[in-house]
Amino acid sequence: MIRLFGYRSSLSLIVWSLVGVALIVCFFSIVHQSDTRQSRIYFRHPSATRELEEIEEEHFRLPPPHKANPRAVKRRGPHRSPNVIDQYLEESSEIHALFFPDERTAVNPTKVGNDSMYFYPGRVWLDTDGHIIQAHGGGIMYDHITAKYYWYGENKDGPTYQAHPKGTHRVDIIGINCYSSKDLWSWTNEGIVLPGEPTNVTHDLHKSKVLERPKVIYNDRTGQYVMWMHIDDANYTKASLGVAVSSSPTGPFSYLYSFRPHGFQSRDMTIFKDDDGAAYLFYSSRDNTELHVSRLTKDYLNITAAMRRILIRRHREAPAVFKLERTYYMITSGCSGWAPNKALTHAADSIMGPWKTLGNPCVGGNRFFRLTTFLSQSTFVLPLSGLPGTFIFMADRWNPSNLRDSRYVWLPLFVGGLTDEPLNNSFGSPLWSRVSIYWHRKWRLPEDWKKGYV
Ligand code: DGJ
Repeated sequence: MIRLFGYRSSLSLIVWSLVGVALIVCFFSIVHQSDTRQSRIYFRHPSATRELEEIEEEHFRLPPPHKANPRAVKRRGPHRSPNVIDQYLEESSEIHALFFPDERTAVNPTKVGNDSMYFYPGRVWLDTDGHIIQAHGGGIMYDHITAKYYWYGENKDGPTYQAHPKGTHRVDIIGINCYSSKDLWSWTNEGIVLPGEPTNVTHDLHKSKVLERPKVIYNDRTGQYVMWMHIDDANYTKASLGVAVSSSPTGPFSYLYSFRPHGFQSRDMTIFKDDDGAAYLFYSSRDNTELHVSRLTKDYLNITAAMRRILIRRHREAPAVFKLERTYYMITSGCSGWAPNKALTHAADSIMGPWKTLGNPCVGGNRFFRLTTFLSQSTFVLPLSGLPGTFIFMADRWNPSNLRDSRYVWLPLFVGGLTDEPLNNSFGSPLWSRVSIYWHRKWRLPEDWKKGYV
């Protein structure tokens, strides 16, 4: 009996010791986790950018619905009455004119005056020759060799038409334009660095096809500038990626090939070069229902076997990826053709995921603006090296009935403070820094923005 009692008490001692050890391990892992969570929150010292972080309201009155033109009725069907976005997309409407002011208000670097260095989202923007900048769906690369920024984008300076009555509005491929700048405001045209193909109909870049969202990064090992882009046919069924390469940021770029990454469809895409020189590809796949992220090979000319499916069933496109300290962020749009919709921010500790959705980054303006990404669609986010946590959000305000007249919406984007709109945080998931894009009718970069590069 005594032996049995002794046996039982040592057994319960062992059990309680194990429970104790488990509790201690659990306690330390929670403490460690909350430490890591803290490190995800970035607090800036916003003195230099305080002005840009002031909330600016917009009080425009949307005009009453008007009788739509028959082409627009055909496009959306007779049974649906036009909503504000339908009206906005019609070039002849009053509301369209409100957001596509004419060339008289253009941002013009050839006229130096009080307005110098001010960005005016949505206005016509001229280059240093006084011509309208054609760099849609674009991205910017800073080149340390020439100490200049290069803006690459789609040249859409041709007539808009529909290849089929139900097809999307399009412009024939002209090519990829490049502009250079030291101040991010006055841009010099460096010409077409990757031209379309006028005659050979079998070529990926034949004018009848689709060439969108070019992005360029520099490969430090090979000394080459590598461009990735969305390659498609007029009906968007080819859904592939194209790669081109050049030894100079201003081209000419040699077109190498197109392919479907890991055999999957690829439409809207971007590439991201990490601090350690590794580069990654993001693309909308599986009928735009999800995104894929894939690591590029060391020469950036291909993809590696590493691939992850992210934001599954979320129907997102137009990815723009950026990083602050150890956290990766991405802005995406919904999928509604050329029509604007609500942006979302996503964040991840590892670029290959998992990615969490934080919420709508748009701040200020008014509700209509915030639900339509200020009537634009993301294309790129550019870090301002002298101001950690400060970025330029670059977006396109598409004009589908006259695509060459699509505008640029550039706004300051800040990372800092706690997110206030976690969308899909599960229990125990981390707190992330808030990403905010502030509406401003006019704004300019703070004095200190270039400190990091000079
Ligand atoms: C949305 C995409 O983001 C654009 O790049 C373009 O492909 C349009 N769709 C075409 O409708």
